[in-house]
Parts: sequence; structure tokens; C-alpha cells
Amino acid sequence: MKLWLDTANIDEIREINAWGVLAGVTTNPTLAGKEGVPFEQRLKEIAAEVDGPVCGEVISTERDGMIAEGLKLAEIAPNIVVKAPVTSEGYAAVTELAKRGIKTNMTLCFSPAQAILAAEAGATYISPFLGRVDDIGNDGIDLLNEIVEIYRVQGYTTYVLAASLRSPQHVVDSAKAGADVATLPHSVFKALVKHPLTDIGLKRFLDDWEAYQRALA
Ligand code: E4P
Repeated sequence: MKLWLDTANIDEIREINAWGVLAGVTTNPTLAGKEGVPFEQRLKEIAAEVDGPVCGEVISTERDGMIAEGLKLAEIAPNIVVKAPVTSEGYAAVTELAKRGIKTNMTLCFSPAQAILAAEAGATYISPFLGRVDDIGNDGIDLLNEIVEIYRVQGYTTYVLAASLRSPQHVVDSAKAGADVATLPHSVFKALVKHPLTDIGLKRFLDDWEAYQRALA
């Protein structure tokens, strides 16, 4: 399962990219709005920084507007993926963008039926929003499991991108479910590293090494 960052913040992207495990980035209008710089400019910076797909979302809600915006976004860099919502207009736009060879990510997916439509439209990625499903008292991982199973049975080639992840457990459960990609906020990416026994173990190794060196001196 590839690990992507869900942010439009270039410092967060540079920090995680330095670990060598970052395979892509998702942004959305909310995340872009936190940055205070023109969106196209930021997407260009991110696309140059990351060796992998970088998703930019369209704002139009009708087919032709989405296509026009998508084509413009795709011109920014070869690794740009156009994000569009799982609406009827979104499916129409993604069908056309796919025909033109543009990579797409269908976002705001909350049902297996929407995921089937995305695959039939030729979307490159489908993004079920696990955390937001949990927020309303349902189980996001159940949704992910259903989509992965349907795609397997049907032989769909659209990649399943687990989104709206809120914790390391979400990441582990997404990997177990067979998601192709998980996109994580910076805080969750950082939390993946942490284990108290690692910190305690490392401290003990370093202390023991120091004692050993002192004994030799
Ligand atoms: C994914 O592409 C979305 O940007 C994101 O995962 C949404 O997450 P949220 O529900 O935490 O806003």
C-alpha cells in the first residue's frame, strides 16, 4: 500500500518526503485555502517536490467546467491527477478526461455504488472517506472492505485510495483491507513512527554503548 500525504503545505510535504516513503499527495479546496498562495502555484511546487501523483481538485460542479479545469490542472505537471466528486456531472467529466489520457481521482465516495460508477467511468483512483463515515456512526473500514471486494470480483483496475484517515489504526486497517493507497494527514504520518518501546529501547542501547565506551577508556 502506497503512502500519500493529505496536505497542501509544502513544509509538511518536504519533511515527510525526506523519509523516502512518500509516494504521492492529495489536496482539496479546504487544505488549499489554509495556505494563502494561489492554488496552481502551490500544485506546481508540490508536483516538483514529489516523485509521484499529486491530486488537485476541480471546483466546477458541471461537466464542461470540470473538464476545462481538469485540462488546465493537468498542464501544470505530468504527475498531476485531477480530482472530481462522485456526482453525475463528475462521472461525465471523468469519462471524458479518461478518454483524453488524463489521470483522475474520484473523491467524496461514501458508498460501494458510487465506487462502481467511478470504476465504470474509468477513474484512475476512487477515494472512500473513511473518517467521515465513522463520524456519522457507521464503519469506514466496512465501506473500504466492500469496495476492495467488489473491485477484486469485477477485475476493476481503478486503484482504491483510502482517504479521510484519522489514526495509525485506520492506516493498518486500510492495509489489511487491501487498499492500494492511503492518504494521511501530516499528524497521522508522524504518529505512524511512534512507539514508546522504540524510544525506551533506543535510549537503553545508547546508554549501554556509552557505558561500554567508558569502560574501555
Ligand atoms: C482526500 O483526498 C481528502 O482530501 C481527505 O482525505 C479528506 O479528509 P478529511 O475528512 O479529514 O477532511
